[in-house]
Amino acid sequence: MESAERLKKIPPYLFMELRQKIGRARAAGIDVISLAIGDPVEPTPEEVIHELARAAHDPANHQYPTDEEKGMLSFRETVARWYAKRYAVAVDPQTQVLGLIGSKEGCHHFALARVNPGDAVLMTDPGYPAYRASILIAGGEPVTVPIRPEQAYLPVLRDIPSDTAKRATAMFLNYPNNPTGAVATTAFLKELVEFARTYDIAVCYDNPYIEIVFGGERPLSFLSMPGASDVGVELNSLSKPFNMTGWRIGMALGNRDLIAAISKVKENTDSGIFNAIQYAGIAALTRCEESIEHMLQIYARRRDFVVATLRQAGIEYTAAKGTFYLWVPTPAGATSLEFADRLFEKARVVVAPGRGYGDFGEGFFRISLTVPDARLEEAMERIRRALET
Ligand SMILES: Cc1ncc(COP(=O)(O)O)c(C=O)c1O
Repeated sequence: MESAERLKKIPPYLFMELRQKIGRARAAGIDVISLAIGDPVEPTPEEVIHELARAAHDPANHQYPTDEEKGMLSFRETVARWYAKRYAVAVDPQTQVLGLIGSKEGCHHFALARVNPGDAVLMTDPGYPAYRASILIAGGEPVTVPIRPEQAYLPVLRDIPSDTAKRATAMFLNYPNNPTGAVATTAFLKELVEFARTYDIAVCYDNPYIEIVFGGERPLSFLSMPGASDVGVELNSLSKPFNMTGWRIGMALGNRDLIAAISKVKENTDSGIFNAIQYAGIAALTRCEESIEHMLQIYARRRDFVVATLRQAGIEYTAAKGTFYLWVPTPAGATSLEFADRLFEKARVVVAPGRGYGDFGEGFFRISLTVPDARLEEAMERIRRALET
């Protein structure tokens, strides 16, 4: 049966293809190590699991979620307190906070809430592929803005032609950045608020890696910039800081009109997050802060190890400050796809080819540090040997 035209415009999802490739090799008995996907392997904190079990035993939570699409008020209040405490951001939990089924859901529903068919929507190249899909499903036209190492992987807003900016109704961004690991500066974020205000562009500042920054830098919320709530929303998620990717819980905060519009889409699409998971989310945000620091130490150690091994193998490279991804230049003489294929054939290690994130991703590959230490060591040893030959 034919699918809808809008689906045909969406390129195959890189991670699905990678997962299938890994699955086929493993089914054939090959010991493949995947460094391609950012999905923490360490367990969710015990306190969160206990709280889920407790709440799941309460029949009151077996019904449709309280406050349906918005999320329980107690969850939204907890999110507001978390933002005040960790990022010095004040939001009204009644009108400026919305529970999400992960920030990916938020991106998609933001697009449906804001973008009209034919609207230009800005996103970075390289960029998180799900933005393109969300824009296309909403009927918008993805317009990419290159991000380059010379500009610390931040878009140069003044280089966006003003007729393009005038046509754009929204923009997706995320810093700490997937895939490059770059972090935003305060100066850039202030400029972003002004740019968005000038052109009436709604910013979807997708910030699921906000807590993953190295070298003692403080996490930076878009909403801590003066005027940010006038022009956009920030999406955040419990997936990465608390090893909860499978739980599907996140939040949108900021502009009241956008929050109400996303909420309207959700009202007509899903019925919100299982209450028991929201209680577990409250436990994460109120009782598990130390697990963030613990995971940061693990990633920092793995990061240093990978950078050192790459250096031994002849790849000189300085890691950016954020996320659990390393965005590494491919050795000369191979495209990112050829290099990734070569590593798969020779080392049985899967990395994400930069080209999968856009034209400007060419020349790079992405390594994720969400792999157990022993497997990461084995993978890097295999990569070192493959690069030797
Ligand atoms: C930039 C970015 N946004 C959103 C997501 C999805 O996060 P969530 O699990 O909260 O849906 C990811 C996951 O890898 C991501 O890299």
